[in-house]
Amino acid sequence: MREPGKDIEAAAGVLRSGGLVALPTETVYGLGANAEDATAVRRVFQVKGRPPSHPLIVHLASAGQLGEWVEEVPDTARVLADRFWPGPLTLVLPRGRRVPLEATGGLETVAVRVPDHPVALALLAAFGGGVAAPSANRFGSVSPTTADHVRAELGDAVDFILDGGPCQVGVESTIVDARGGVPSILRPGGVTREALEDVVGSKVAVTAEAAGGVRAPGQHPSHYAPRARVVLVEPEQVAAQAHVAQEQGHRVGVLLPPLVAAGVVVKADAVVEVPASMGAFARGLYEYLREFDRQGCDLVVASLPARDGLGLAIVDRLRRAAGPRTAG
Ligand code: TXA
Ligand code: MG
Repeated sequence: MREPGKDIEAAAGVLRSGGLVALPTETVYGLGANAEDATAVRRVFQVKGRPPSHPLIVHLASAGQLGEWVEEVPDTARVLADRFWPGPLTLVLPRGRRVPLEATGGLETVAVRVPDHPVALALLAAFGGGVAAPSANRFGSVSPTTADHVRAELGDAVDFILDGGPCQVGVESTIVDARGGVPSILRPGGVTREALEDVVGSKVAVTAEAAGGVRAPGQHPSHYAPRARVVLVEPEQVAAQAHVAQEQGHRVGVLLPPLVAAGVVVKADAVVEVPASMGAFARGLYEYLREFDRQGCDLVVASLPARDGLGLAIVDRLRRAAGPRTAG
């Protein structure tokens, strides 16, 4: 077995020389490049097959570095960073000069976060700079929550894969526009709306629009999708809908809601009983979707949990998984 410290040093060296490193975070695995190296950042887009207008998140080793990467740190942003970092919160702020436009998709704002994972933090500390990293999957597909997912999907296209075990949060970070007075949520994620409201002291809106009318890039309706088509129904209709779909000749996967699971016989090709705890549901969500793909399902029947706590992020991802597909 290799020594973890050696892997960290090797991975930091890869970043310094313009290479790509897949790194574990508490949310999902990221595909990292030196944020200040425009050529390396361009390669991230190539490997992902992602349009260059979709900005990346710059990952830092500590909240103390924030001021080096953004033009301005409003009071609210400082408060949120101090409270939630390291953690699954991404702040959108005016772009600092260090950040090339390649990393921000041409925007004058930059998304920044400090991930809460010992391997990611060790890498960021050893590297010293910012690491621009989207989720380490191909554009539009399900985010990876293990190093094996990354290996299977990106393999040789990545110069170094750091294995930090399965991700503990399982859905991506909450993205917050923190430029104005009251922050708004651009993407629900690992930090709940309720937790943000507690700190901010007022209601926090969820909006897909960045301030200035720019639609939050990367928020395609068809994001986070498995190969199988996902159909959303009411919880009590999941079993019946699965049966109908099977009769129609589909290979059917079912995400069975916890309250329905007790005592119900479901006829389907693959059944995953959703855990009652939202934390466990979020942690397992992408693996469940991958499992349906592995089982060869062409249709997944699921229902949405309540929109509070981590449920809000789960609802967002399931809706996108069920959203209209663009080409491929
Ligand atoms: O948990 C996460 O956030 C993971 C881990 C690896 O940190 N990263 C992640 O990155 O989910 P990605 O690229 O898959 O999603 C980042 C999203 C983009 O799709 C975009 O919507 C938003 O962040 N974003 C980035 N910069 C932005 C900006 N300047 N303004 C508005 N939205 C931005
Ligand atoms: Mg992503």
